[in-house]
Amino acid sequence: IKLKIVDRDGKLHEVDAPTDMNMNLMEVVRSYELAPEGTIGICGGMAMCASCQCYVKSDHQLPEKTDDEEAMLAEAFFVKDNSRLGCQIHITDDLDGLEVELAPEEG
Ligand code: FES
Repeated sequence: IKLKIVDRDGKLHEVDAPTDMNMNLMEVVRSYELAPEGTIGICGGMAMCASCQCYVKSDHQLPEKTDDEEAMLAEAFFVKDNSRLGCQIHITDDLDGLEVELAPEEG
């Protein structure tokens, strides 16, 4: 599927993401090096750091947030109504054309 990802400098990247590798959005961002190493995915995708926060800009229906994701976003900085944790968004066919913007780096 195709994803549109706006990096922290505001630059738009259109990338291909596989649906058959059990990847999440944070891992896609890392695989294309759209954020510097060590600034995203710090907790390894456990919904415990918010370094993978992104803003969802397209109107795709995403799966509901888990309690862990809700709890982490309640403590994170720069949270908006459309904030999600990238590591909790699994790459599925439904997400073709999804557009997200990476949230600023915390601290
Ligand atoms: Fe830590 Fe997503 S990588 S919350």
